[in-house]
Amino acid sequence: MDFSKEILKMKKEKNCVILSHFYQIADIQNIADFIGDSLQLSQIAAETTADIILFCGVNFMAETAKILSPDRKVLLPEPEAGCSLADSCNVNDLKAFLKNYPDHTVVSYVNTSVGVKALTDICCTSSNAIKIIENLPENEKIVFLPDRNLGSYIKSITKRDDMVVWNGACHVHEEFSVEKIIELKKEYPEAKVLAHPECKKTVLILADKIGSTAALLEFSKNDGCKQFIVATESGILHQMQISSPQKTFIPAPPVDSTCGCNDCKYMKMVTLEKVYNTLKNESPEVLIDIELIEKAKKSILRMFEMTK
Ligand code: 13P
Ligand code: SF4
Repeated sequence: MDFSKEILKMKKEKNCVILSHFYQIADIQNIADFIGDSLQLSQIAAETTADIILFCGVNFMAETAKILSPDRKVLLPEPEAGCSLADSCNVNDLKAFLKNYPDHTVVSYVNTSVGVKALTDICCTSSNAIKIIENLPENEKIVFLPDRNLGSYIKSITKRDDMVVWNGACHVHEEFSVEKIIELKKEYPEAKVLAHPECKKTVLILADKIGSTAALLEFSKNDGCKQFIVATESGILHQMQISSPQKTFIPAPPVDSTCGCNDCKYMKMVTLEKVYNTLKNESPEVLIDIELIEKAKKSILRMFEMTK
C-alpha cells in the first residue's frame, strides 16, 4: 500500500493537521502539514482549527498539543515514544526537590511530562529559554529543569550564577564526541559547527552557532558557508539539505558510533504505517485529565506571554 498517498487522502476527509518535529524520519516530514521545532509546533497546536491533530513526535510534544487544544482530538502514532530528558525528571522527585527551594520560580524546558508542567511556573523551549530567564528580575530565584547542559549554557549567557539546575540530560545530545568533531574539523577546515544547547559544554565550545533545531536550520540557510558539521539529532539534516541542496551537512558522530546515538530512538519509532493506522482508527489518542491540563497550561501560556 502507498501509505503516504492514503494518509494525505484521509487527512483531508477527516480535517486533520499533521505536525512533525524536525527529528522525524524523512518520509514522515514529507507528508506533514507543518514541520518545526518544539516552540513552532506548540504555537500551531494552540491556533489550529483542525478537528484532529496528528502529532509525529514524542509523548511530551503531543501532550503539549493536547494541553493547548483540549477540545481537539490529539493522536500520537507511537505512545511508547518517550524522551530520556523528560524521563530524567519525575513528579515525585521534583516535588521533594522543590521543598528545598520554596521561594524559587520554576522554569521548565518543554521536554517534561504534563505532571511536571503542572508544578512549573514558566515553560520554555530551546528557542526562547534565554529570553525568558533574561526577562525575570535579577533578584528572582530560579530553579531550571530538567536539562543540565541547557541550564549551564543559559547560566553562561545570562550570568545567573545562582540559578539552581536539575541534573537531567538527553541521551542523544550527551553522546557527541568532542574528539571526532575535532577530527571532522581537520577534514573539513571550512566547515562550521552547529550545535543544540542540549549538547555538553565541551561540544558547545566548538560550535559556531548554538540554537534550537529551527535556529540551526535558519543559520544553515542564511550563512555563506558551504559545509556544516551538525551536532544535533540526525533528522534535521533532511530539511537542511532540502533548503540548501548545494551545501554539505555532516552529522557529528557520537562517542560510540555503533550505538546510532545521533538518532533519537524515540523519534524514530514513528513510521508511515503507524501514522496510517492511527489516522484510520483515530487511536491512540492523547487523553489528559482536564484539571491537570488547566494547571499545566498556565506555564505554557506564561511562556507565550513573556515572549510575544
Ligand atoms: P527543539 O526545541 O529545538 O525542537 O528541540 C527538541 C528536542 O527534543 C531536542 O532534543
Ligand atoms: Fe528527548 Fe533527546 Fe529525543 Fe529530544 S532527542 S526527544 S530531548 S530523547
